[in-house]
Amino acid sequence: MAQETAQQIWERHKKTIPGGVMSLNRMLDPMRVFTKAKGAYLWDHEGKRYIDYHAAFAPYVLGHCDDDVDEAAIQSIRRSESLIGAGTTPWEGEIAELIVDSVPGLEQLQLTNSGSEATAYAMRLARAATGRDGILLMQGGYNGWGDYVAFNLMDPKEALGNHKPGEEYDLRPITAGIPQKVFETVHVVEFNDLEAAEKVLVKGEVGAVILEPILQNVGIVKPKPGYLEGLRELCDRTGTILIFDEVKTGFRHSLGGYQEICGVTPDLSTFGKAVANGYPMGVVGGKESVMRHVTHADPAKRVTIAGTYNAHPLTVAATKATLLKLRDPEADVYGKLYSLGARMEEGLTEIFRRRNYPTTIVRQGSAFALYFMDHVPENWADIARNNDAARDVAYRKALIEKGVFQFPVTTKQGSISYAHTEADIDRTLEITEEVLNELG
Ligand SMILES: Cc1ncc(COP(=O)(O)O)c(C=O)c1O
Repeated sequence: MAQETAQQIWERHKKTIPGGVMSLNRMLDPMRVFTKAKGAYLWDHEGKRYIDYHAAFAPYVLGHCDDDVDEAAIQSIRRSESLIGAGTTPWEGEIAELIVDSVPGLEQLQLTNSGSEATAYAMRLARAATGRDGILLMQGGYNGWGDYVAFNLMDPKEALGNHKPGEEYDLRPITAGIPQKVFETVHVVEFNDLEAAEKVLVKGEVGAVILEPILQNVGIVKPKPGYLEGLRELCDRTGTILIFDEVKTGFRHSLGGYQEICGVTPDLSTFGKAVANGYPMGVVGGKESVMRHVTHADPAKRVTIAGTYNAHPLTVAATKATLLKLRDPEADVYGKLYSLGARMEEGLTEIFRRRNYPTTIVRQGSAFALYFMDHVPENWADIARNNDAARDVAYRKALIEKGVFQFPVTTKQGSISYAHTEADIDRTLEITEEVLNELG
């Protein structure tokens, strides 16, 4: 019998799964069915191999199915470290110590199963600590799919209207079903626009500013010099909790997160993705003065955290193995990641320099983004107005056809892993050249 095509499998799935995929941001056109991933590669159900830079939206800092991480998870099962779900375990304390030791802004932490849970919990802590409901978000930032953060991501340029620097944005939810009351507590301003943040914060109604310290869900948009320091000062002045959402930046750019690189310490931080190299782990941590609300003596100020699967031993074992490898001086993970990133950036710069349309490459370590515009963007509005999204998507789709998997949505970052080799990067650059020659 002939093998089913990806389209046929997807059509069948649609009967039992609305949309035919289990997370709507995984939608592909044309649809593909993946069955295996190892190191730097993905394989589809027809056996075709792809050099992968999507990395499942970035957790794979060591590469898919890293042997050390998987072996730790397997050994955890073999030792019968089941989800005991009562009391504490030695293992959760071990990784709490490892993470606190790694990240400058963490004195204490709690674990969740995902980044979205981590950001939701961080915002609750901030509300309890400040007694204020308001939340300030960044246009083009992504902090999970919870009610208070699912706003203003990748708005089309027509939707940006006449927005001016220094002003708030109109709210644009990315989902239906958010209670109307939530809209009254959420504010959105431009990333890198301190004046706009100040206008909102001085009113004294916002409990937390939550932001990715580098916008990494719209490529790579870096903070301008002084911006994060300015936010820190604003938050101190107005009694607002500063939350760095390091779900994407954390453990990828350095062991101490981007806060270690930029030297600005938030009150709370959230992590996920790279901390466990593909296993479902989220982290919420920060200053003891805020984290003490987890067990506050006054029940009215106590912030519940409860999760049947929090600190699942299998995930904890995988996290510990990931952290030990990231810390291993002999493995020199960050040295290799940064050097492969530089090789990719140099190669792409050279290839695109010869084209008759503008491109700009932005990189932070092992994460890279290619914009089809003539300057380094400062915020999402700049990208929405100037990036040639249609050319970007056509380029990505052509790469996929030739065996390089970059997610086929404009601006989505490329993530290099420790499992990639110089030969993988060079082959990718060759394919890039072929694709551009064909696309013209
Ligand atoms: C910065 C950031 N925060 C939060 C999240 C949500 O994490 P999760 O998908 O694990 O819920 C993501 C996911 O892409 C993210 O990039």
